[in-house]
Amino acid sequence: MERAGSGASSPTRLLRLDGTATTLLLIARRTGLPEIAYWGTRLPQTLDAEAVFTLRAPDTPNNGPDNWRPLITVLDTIGQWNFDLPGLLADRPDGTGWTADFQTKSLETSPGALTVHGLDEISGLEVEIIITLSLEDVLCTRQTLTNRGTTPLNVQRFISGNYLLPENAGEFRVAHGSWAREFDFQPVSLTQGGLVIESRRNRSHDHYPAILAGTSSTSQNSGMAYAAHLGWSGSHRIAAERMEDGRLRLSVGEYLYPGEVILAPGETLTAPPAYATCSSEGYAGCARAFQAYARSSIIRWPGGQMKPRPVLLNSWEGNYFDLDERRLMREADAAAELGVERFVLDDGWFGSRRDDTKGLGDWFAALAIFPNGLRPLSDHVHAHGMQFGLWYEPEMANPNSDLYRQHPDWTLHVRGRPMLTSRQQIVIDISRKDVSDYLFAAISKQVTDWRIDYIKWDFNRELIEAADAQGRAAYRKQVLALYALWDRLHEAHPELEIESCASGGGRADWGALAHTQRIWLSDNTSAPSRLRIQNAGWHFVPPEVTGCHISHSPNWMDGLSTTLDYRAAIAIFGHLGVELDPLTLPADESRRLKAWIALHKRLRPVLHSGNAQFADDEPARIIRGVTSRDANTGIYLVAQENWPPSRLPAPVRLPGLARERLYKITVPSPQTIGRHRPSDAQQKLFSDGLILSGAMMSDIGFYLPALQPQSALVLECRAI
Ligand code: GLA
Repeated sequence: MERAGSGASSPTRLLRLDGTATTLLLIARRTGLPEIAYWGTRLPQTLDAEAVFTLRAPDTPNNGPDNWRPLITVLDTIGQWNFDLPGLLADRPDGTGWTADFQTKSLETSPGALTVHGLDEISGLEVEIIITLSLEDVLCTRQTLTNRGTTPLNVQRFISGNYLLPENAGEFRVAHGSWAREFDFQPVSLTQGGLVIESRRNRSHDHYPAILAGTSSTSQNSGMAYAAHLGWSGSHRIAAERMEDGRLRLSVGEYLYPGEVILAPGETLTAPPAYATCSSEGYAGCARAFQAYARSSIIRWPGGQMKPRPVLLNSWEGNYFDLDERRLMREADAAAELGVERFVLDDGWFGSRRDDTKGLGDWFAALAIFPNGLRPLSDHVHAHGMQFGLWYEPEMANPNSDLYRQHPDWTLHVRGRPMLTSRQQIVIDISRKDVSDYLFAAISKQVTDWRIDYIKWDFNRELIEAADAQGRAAYRKQVLALYALWDRLHEAHPELEIESCASGGGRADWGALAHTQRIWLSDNTSAPSRLRIQNAGWHFVPPEVTGCHISHSPNWMDGLSTTLDYRAAIAIFGHLGVELDPLTLPADESRRLKAWIALHKRLRPVLHSGNAQFADDEPARIIRGVTSRDANTGIYLVAQENWPPSRLPAPVRLPGLARERLYKITVPSPQTIGRHRPSDAQQKLFSDGLILSGAMMSDIGFYLPALQPQSALVLECRAI
């Protein structure tokens, strides 16, 4: 009888990938795919492989499997001793091929990268799994499955990434949500069984395709934290499982609808990339790693480098569908005067689209509003030195549109059943070549003719019963077609930037971000909500790609009135926008808004390149910021959400600066101290600045003037 760790399952090789602060350790064995042995803080360079093998070989259980083999491999399948959630679910028309037992055919390693080839000759399956660990400590897994059999393979699940978590890291933070309430982190403790989070709508307001995990003592800034993210804008599945033997496993992958993937002999399925990171600096450490990696490896800027993010004005909340060319030109004049650098015309400029019931899909200028097309408005905007942006929703149509009347067969729906609409619109099948060619030609011509610098690309409904003309589920191919269309537009117009919007943050994942330059985190522009949504979203994406707008007060969504200073302080950390009618602003608000825009422009080099900082959670206040990579500068937001629990709010402690260095802390203009009886230190803070060391700021802290609920201060720290 074979014993654990001996015979067929005996270890053959220790494989390691190192980032800057983390290590992934795998054990190759004579049979099976490599086992995940360790993922965590970086291990010493010299590691005795034999010692690790010995450590990782548990006893063979009595009354249990005789030829025991470790269960957590890079891809766990049905078969052998795996009774847990499989990473691959597939079968053949005659019911065979449902188990898999991959044998490692080759293992290639290079610094920071590992490629595993696995083959199951009985089931006729081949996998290739490429794992990289970047210097930012982000693991990226890319895997493919090839049908090496002689009959079609019906794939129901093929995950993208499989992770081993320590047994005590069963405290998850799940990014649930809904429209206008995106990124609403909820804690879930996993003691037994599984946690499965599926989003089946091709947009992810309900569950963002990412998850955080930690132990009961992990906080924002300390303890081991783990994060995983699927780079995919379609339906998805995150599964954490406490296995029968107590180990904890996490996987992320696509959610496949029945029949979506049927591989003919020789065909290959490529899973979307999966990303994961871990940090001993708590959830903030994971956020820094993810932000840095998104910057270095996900986002592709026109020209290869990010230019300063242009402050934009979006016409939506200031005008809705009530568009008038001359008035828009005057709004553009006012925007330029405020310091705006990009003017974006939102919904309502085309066809018969005067409300959301008709015209969607008719991508030609509404001649009643724009008699000479969009070029005159675009020229007017450009004459101010601003860029011109335009809204499209290319994957959709209103049934009451010329497009639908001409091409009713383009729709994604189950033929013979009533056509289901949402926001009075249907989805068109952009995976059809004629449809994507049509969209490309229409948009591309306008980008050239109307000198469009930026597209806000919207996606305002879910995919419901999304069947193609043959009746097959088309969720997955719709996403791939979208990525292809975005890429085609970028290739044809190398300077064009695209924003991914889906009724707010329904498509804010790294899959979308690999093909666009901005994401709209939420339609909820109310500052108190935005404060939370941005805080959560920035655990996965860097602030410079997230649209953060200053809108009218009271806010259209929740009716809340807030000060301009509060709204601006929250918005300036991201890709700043203004979403209001600048012609109706009172003169003093215009002046203040102009000053805030100027402040943002001065601070954005740090805000959009530095390390994210999140202070530990407090009941009524959020403190976060960005420190420059050399730690010479820190820009922080202190935002009071509710009344503090005691009369004297806790001192403000600012994380992330160099402990020994001295900094001057100021409260930059246009902020003022207001009606208040300040302490000497507070007076200094608001006049010449307060001088403190990094350690004094992070450990001792200092008192700010008491802030009322829904007010905030931006603090600027510069090394002296
Ligand atoms: C969606 C977007 C909004 C706006 C409207 C226009 O809701 O998220 O920002 O563009 O569509 O219809």
